[in-house]
Amino acid sequence: MKRHRRQDPPGTLRWRARIRRAGMGRTASALLAVVATAAACSAPAPATTTGRQVEVFTWWASGAEKLAMDVLVQRFRAEHPDVGYVDAAVAGGAGTVAKGVLAARFADGDPPDTFQVHGGAELTAQVSAGHVRPLSSLFDQVGLEDVLPPVVLDSVSVHGVPYAVPVDVHRTNLLWANTDVLAQAGLDPTARYDSLDSWMAALDQVRAAGLTPLAIGSTWTQVHLLEVVLLSRLGPTTYAGLWDGTADATSPEVKAAVEDFARIMQDTNADRDSLDWQDATGRVNEGRAAFVVMGDWAQEVFDPPVVWAPFPGTADVDDITVDAFAAPVGAVHPTGADAWLSTVAGLDTQVAFANAKGAIPARNDALQTSLGDYPRSALRTFRTATVVPSLAHGMAAPPQAVDDITRAVSSLARGTASTAQVVAALAGASWR
Ligand code: GAL
Repeated sequence: MKRHRRQDPPGTLRWRARIRRAGMGRTASALLAVVATAAACSAPAPATTTGRQVEVFTWWASGAEKLAMDVLVQRFRAEHPDVGYVDAAVAGGAGTVAKGVLAARFADGDPPDTFQVHGGAELTAQVSAGHVRPLSSLFDQVGLEDVLPPVVLDSVSVHGVPYAVPVDVHRTNLLWANTDVLAQAGLDPTARYDSLDSWMAALDQVRAAGLTPLAIGSTWTQVHLLEVVLLSRLGPTTYAGLWDGTADATSPEVKAAVEDFARIMQDTNADRDSLDWQDATGRVNEGRAAFVVMGDWAQEVFDPPVVWAPFPGTADVDDITVDAFAAPVGAVHPTGADAWLSTVAGLDTQVAFANAKGAIPARNDALQTSLGDYPRSALRTFRTATVVPSLAHGMAAPPQAVDDITRAVSSLARGTASTAQVVAALAGASWR
């Protein structure tokens, strides 16, 4: 992912790291105290703390996601028995419903104490709106900047200041297949598709056999599909260039990729808008469709004979989604929020969570042996592949641009918009 150019202003992570490296511990502490005081003077006054509790807002409300969330909650309760946990989860994959509720709560001046957010553009928008407070002192206490991979640290920082604690990193570009359905369609169930064309030929064959080639759900899963088709056709550099302005979204190759997306959408179930991701993946689990595209959070929901592979043409790419927690300005229980954030920043917590969630820990100091088979292989991919940010999951482009793309994709799926409108929405998405 493209990195920001920074001046390393005082108080930023890089500034503090430089000071530490230069062996200026004491001076740095004194300087930090001055900076902290200055920040405290200029920051909005914290809300009063009433009671020891924390209201935690997420969209991990059911199924495997809830089980993984329970791991965080159990660890929090063990580490902070004196702080009450209040569950404010709002159901709906990828936070599509939760984000609307969160926006309303900010508008009403009633933010939760801490909330789930994606790194990258989504977090940056919350920072620009003045909704979240810097977490520099918490990062210092935990020593987080020393244990986060640069791309992850970058995704939770704005102008070098950290604003969220990352808890995991997901791989978004995976394809899942029910090998029994492939066999029924006369396809080799062990085949791997290394290009979009070979996969599209397989979709044709499944359709010709009278079966559903690709299960899909409501609009965010369709944008997720668009994302991996773009990545496959354009490659990581041009794909990432769509968001940092170095690639032309109206180029013939982008237009052709969007045409491919439109063709693939014709191979999906018609009742897509009534399904969330768990329902769409369920169709493949139950043998009612051959393939589904979904991030590795689906690891925990599939059973044999379903297998996974990188989305065709993206084997060397890790299209990442970073899950993080931020702390609103003006929340009622800031100390409760700090307690929650310190738990989710912990190594053992992140390892347990990654194993339950089908992700890798955000921290890079986990022992390989502490990770299950999938997170261990995902960690290898993360360390060796080209990393790009997810569009559908808020990392790549600002919320407004993702909304515009989502609307265009939804209209295209319903037959009321052309691929040109999707291309136009993509052209409005660069932000860096
Ligand atoms: C993503 C999130 C994942 C997973 C997924 C489906 O946006 O980063 O952790 O929850 O949505 O809900």
